[in-house]
Amino acid sequence: MKKFLNLGFQPLANSYLEKKDLNKKENKFELIIMYDSKNYLVSILNKVSKKKMFNENYPYKSSESFTMRKSFKNLAKFLKQRFNPKFVLEIGSNDGAFLKNFKKKEIIGIEPCKNLANITKKKGYKVYSNYWNTNLAKKFFSKKKIDLIYSANTLSHIENYDELFKAIKFSLNDTGILVLEDPSLLECIKNVAYDQFYCEHIYVFSTLSLSKILINYGLEIFDIENIRTHGGSNRYYIKKKTNSFYKIKKSVKENLDKEKIYGLHKFLTYKKFAAKVLKSKKKLKSIFKKIKTQNKKIIGYGATAKSCTVLNYCGIDKKDIDYFYDTTSYKIGKYLPGSKILVKKYQKLLIKNHKYVFLGAWNFKEEIFKKEKKFIKNGGKFITHIPYPRVI
Ligand code: TYD
Repeated sequence: MKKFLNLGFQPLANSYLEKKDLNKKENKFELIIMYDSKNYLVSILNKVSKKKMFNENYPYKSSESFTMRKSFKNLAKFLKQRFNPKFVLEIGSNDGAFLKNFKKKEIIGIEPCKNLANITKKKGYKVYSNYWNTNLAKKFFSKKKIDLIYSANTLSHIENYDELFKAIKFSLNDTGILVLEDPSLLECIKNVAYDQFYCEHIYVFSTLSLSKILINYGLEIFDIENIRTHGGSNRYYIKKKTNSFYKIKKSVKENLDKEKIYGLHKFLTYKKFAAKVLKSKKKLKSIFKKIKTQNKKIIGYGATAKSCTVLNYCGIDKKDIDYFYDTTSYKIGKYLPGSKILVKKYQKLLIKNHKYVFLGAWNFKEEIFKKEKKFIKNGGKFITHIPYPRVI
């Protein structure tokens, strides 16, 4: 295991602060990223306990984004057509954005954050607010096995992937399908999206690393889709190796080849990435400095966990950004961890009030630019750091 990037001391990305806590010392950890040449896995060195991150205060709700709602709806329809599952499990069902596209008796959700699990439970869905593990799997799926397991943006959050895959293998029908969706390491490295790394993203997977790990559990990827969500993700279709019904599609080799051509199996690639990250930091800081020396105001758009990494790594705080706009009710009126920038309830951008807006939610760039087309047309500017820092 070799370290290649140090993003400094970071607070817990989704621990938004109340006003009364602004002067209290925050919990911080050193965000160091490393590469394991044995299984090509990229991970963070210092892990934060899951109970500190995924609890009843978890702020992220998939249903609050139009892009995510639409994407889950289309996917549910597609999965029903392609696999015709009778019994589905979603691991990390969040507030039910995917789950609600199925009939109540067809699907079960696992969601450790009680506040989120309760939202779907109240709608009559069967959701267990537990962490996914083999004990849970044995309790619920010893007799009735699952035809389709779906999990989006949870794989990278689970430290013990050994337990995760053992429990999946136990619960899945021999002809069952596992569909995993997670940020793509290739996109992260290509876009210098170093903010994919924060306490919750313990791993950022590639096809190379995932296929290597799955061998240990008798599982294999048979198809991959490259999708736009979360700044570039992969949707992996996985089956038991013994299931010969589904042939391995050429998308698997194509993705493996693409990653190898980019050098995701070489440590040097990560060293080069680290150098680009440093350059990105310097450039972003100089953009902020230039605007601030003109005495112009900058606000933020989308108080993401990713922004937390950027702001704390680049040393950008409330002196640079007056406040963030965000639509998530839980975040409004609170302060971003570390940088202590206030989050305000989203209001449509108006050029007379703002000229410069830092795009925290760059993964929703298309949705946001569409929403703010008038602001852009009238000369409003977005500052982004992806794939390189610039004003657009
Ligand atoms: P998210 O995509 O979950 O990123 P991360 O995993 O890094 O936290 O967060 C997107 C945030 O952006 C969320 O707080 C909602 C906010 N947002 C807006 O305020 N307005 C918008 O139009 C969109 C699309 C998102």
